[in-house]
Amino acid sequence: MSMTPVNNTYGVPEPFIWNDSFAVFYENLDNEHKQLFQAVFALANENSEGSIKNLLDVTVNHFNDEEGMMVKNNYASYKDHKKMHDNFVAVLKSLKTSDVNEKILNWAKDWLVEHIKTTDFKYKGLLG
Ligand SMILES: [Fe+2]
Ligand SMILES: [Fe+2]
Repeated sequence: MSMTPVNNTYGVPEPFIWNDSFAVFYENLDNEHKQLFQAVFALANENSEGSIKNLLDVTVNHFNDEEGMMVKNNYASYKDHKKMHDNFVAVLKSLKTSDVNEKILNWAKDWLVEHIKTTDFKYKGLLG
C-alpha cells in the first residue's frame, strides 16, 4: 500500500460526519461526499470486508461521477485531479481487514477532508 502523506490543515470533524463547510454546491456530488464520510465512519465502527467493499464502491462511484462532470465541462485540471483519485482508489483496493487501524483510518479521513477542501473546491462554479 502506498499511502501518500497528506498535509491536512483543516482538521477532521469528530464524529466524522459531513457538514456544510464541505459543500461544493452540486447536489449529487455533495450527497456522494456524505456517503464517503458515512463509509469511512462505518469502517471505523466495524472493520469487515463488507465495510471495505462499501467504501470502495461509494468512492469509485463518486469519482466516476465527478470525473464525468469534469470531462463534460472541459475542466482544465482534470488529469491531475484524476491522478489523486486513482491513488486513493489503489490504496482502498489493496486494503484488507488486517490493515485497518487508527493510522490508516486517520489517513483516509485526512485525505478526504484535504481532497474536498483543496482539490474539489477548485471546481466550484465550473462544472455547470
Ligand atoms: Fe475529487
Ligand atoms: Fe469529490
